Order: sequence, then C-alpha cells, then structure tokens
Amino acid sequence: MITPVLLCGGSGTRLWPLSRKSYPKQFASLIRDKTLFQACAERLSGPGYTAPLVLTNSDFRFIVTQQMSEIGIDPGAILIEPDGRNTAPAILAAALWLERIDPDVLMLIAPADHVIPDGDAFGAAVSAGVDAAKSGQLVTFGIKPTHAETGYGYLELSEKTADFSPRPIGLKRFVEKPDAQAAQDMVTSGRFLWNAGIFLFSVKTILDAFRAHAPDMMTAVQSSTKSGKTDLGFFRLDLRHWKRVPDISIDYAVMERADNLSVVPFDGGWSDLGGWDAVWRETEQNADGVATSDHATAIDCENTLLRSEHDGVELVGIGLKNIIAVAMQDAVLVADASHAQDVKKAVTTLKEKQ
Ligand code: GDD
Ligand code: MG
Repeated sequence: MITPVLLCGGSGTRLWPLSRKSYPKQFASLIRDKTLFQACAERLSGPGYTAPLVLTNSDFRFIVTQQMSEIGIDPGAILIEPDGRNTAPAILAAALWLERIDPDVLMLIAPADHVIPDGDAFGAAVSAGVDAAKSGQLVTFGIKPTHAETGYGYLELSEKTADFSPRPIGLKRFVEKPDAQAAQDMVTSGRFLWNAGIFLFSVKTILDAFRAHAPDMMTAVQSSTKSGKTDLGFFRLDLRHWKRVPDISIDYAVMERADNLSVVPFDGGWSDLGGWDAVWRETEQNADGVATSDHATAIDCENTLLRSEHDGVELVGIGLKNIIAVAMQDAVLVADASHAQDVKKAVTTLKEKQ
C-alpha cells in the first residue's frame, strides 16, 4: 500500500494577493472548483492508497479538516509542526509516525500546491515507481525542462533520453536550485530533468537515508515525535525539541547526498504554479491569450490574465498587453507579466511598511 503524505505548510508568496500567510495558495481554488489541496487528496485516493497523512501547521489545521470533509476523505492523521522548518523535518516526522504502523509501507510525498491535470497518467507514473521504491530506491519524478529555471531541482541521467514512458531509471546526481549559468548548462546538455518535488520511497529507506545524511535532525525530530501530544484529533509535535530541528529541505538534506536515486519520467502535465504567469498558462485562454475569471472582463486585450477573487468586485481591462491583474476585496495587484516572479517583493515591501 502507498500512504500519501500531503505537505501543505508553505506560504506561496508569489501568488499574492490571493495567497496569504493565513490562507496560502494550496487552499485556494486557483484553476478548478476544488482547491489544490483537495485535488491533490483526491488524486491520491482509491485502490492502492491508505488514508493520507497530512503535515501542516497550527494555523491551517481547521482549513485542512474542513476541506477534507468537503470532499469526503478522512485523513489518517494530521501532524502539526510547531513552526515551518521546511520539508526535510516534516517528511522525517511523517516517516517516524508511519514506522510505528508499518515500516514497509511506501510514502508518496505530495506537495499540495501542484496542478496535475491528468490524474490517470500520474497514477501510472506512481505505479511504475513502486518496485524500485520497494527495493530501497528513493524515487523521484522527472519533468522535461523547458527553460533554465533556477527555482527547481535537476535530475541527471546517464544519457540523453527522448523516451518519457513511465519506468524507473537510475540517477547519477541530484542538483537542487542551481545558479542561472549551471541551470542553462544542464538544460542545454539534454541529460537533465526537472525534479517535480514528488517522491516515492519506503519508510525504512527514508529513515536509513536520514540516519546516514542528517543524524542530528534524526535525534531532534525523534524526540519531538516521542513527546508530541494528541489534541482534538491533531497530533502536535513537541515544540521544545522542534526548536533544535534544522530548517532545510529534503532536496538539500537527503536527495543531493544520496546515491540510491531513481527517476520515473513524467510528461502528463505538471505545474507547481510558481507565479501568476504559471496560473495564466494553466487557465483556459481565448485566441488572444486572454484568461478571465468570473467578474472580470477583457476588452481588446492580449496575453493578459484578469482575475476578480471577490463577487463584489468587477475588474475590467481595456487595451492591455502582457498584464496580470488580480483583484481581491482588500488588495489589487497589477503587474507586467514579465515581472510575475517579482510579486514576492510586494509581500516583503508591504511587510516592511507595517
Ligand atoms: N508541512 C510542511 N512544512 N510543508 C512544507 C514546509 C513545511 O515546513 N515547507 C514547504 N512545505 C510544502 C510547500 O507547501 C510545498 O507544497 C512543498 O512543501 C515544497 O516546498 P516548496 O517550498 O514549494 O519547495 P520548492 O518549490 O522551493 O522546491 C521543491 O519543489 C520543486 C518543484 O516544485 C524542490 O523539491 C525542488 O527540487 C523542485 O524542483
Ligand atoms: Mg514549490
């Protein structure tokens, strides 16, 4: 069986003003009616999957229970991190939790803020990785790179491949968030895939990897799990021990250091919605590249995204080219599409003003 481990503790500042610290993008309906978190939980339910394990923080715990009950999926457990220490400690806490239930179970680490339109193709990729994961591999999922993105991890294959059929391939190396030149070189070489940020491994394999590559984290997270407490159905990891836990992602803590890595190539469509430009690409557009939400109207516009996130706010754009505009009840973003990645600067600037 596979246990989905739903990671939903991040804050997604590049999608401000929709994504907020108190209500980040994974809990919003960005592309379809269901939220990204709900779509993720549904994608990983059904035959072959146990109930999911959810990792989040205290602020989001009731959003999680509400959104799960709306789709009729019961979480196996909801673990609450005292504060966000990135993905490595969260995944380690999940592994230690599952070890008590079944050390042989496979964990599918699923960031809850991704869009994967073809659930069946994704299911086939997961199935293709099962035997490798059972035999002790850390299985990653590889996306064909389209540009020299510096915000992703890169997976090095031994040779170029044009074959994207789902099967596990041994990996030479994992490179997390390279600089611009290194990213360009890797894309040009044709031997690298993007890391989708989704992983499949057994509880035992990932615990061995943490013991080998991050022993200090192991001790601190173990103590925090042992002295954690159940509270209204949530399991709270212990704050005192959590303070000693390093803040680091699974990519740096384990994947860059491990030599038992495999990749299953996946070309069924994937986006981590890393900015409004990505939301624009994933949203249905007219022939001029214009995407609008309800309560938004575009007149003579090109390559433009107009979204009103509030029933009481009508948003109208006239003669716009390459513009992203997002209107909330209490905040409006208007940006040149080529600056979509700078939206996180808005969040920093506004924080400084407060
Ligand atoms: N529970 C919990 N706690 N979840 C967290 C935490 C945390 O402290 N920090 C991040 N997450 C969640 C985020 O909400 C997101 O769903 C997922 O874990 C990954 O974290 P990101 O912060 O979004 O990572 P990233 O996008 O910079 O990089 C990762 O994903 C890329 C693909 O989207 C890496 O795995 C890259 O290698 C990969 O290319
Ligand atoms: Mg991300």
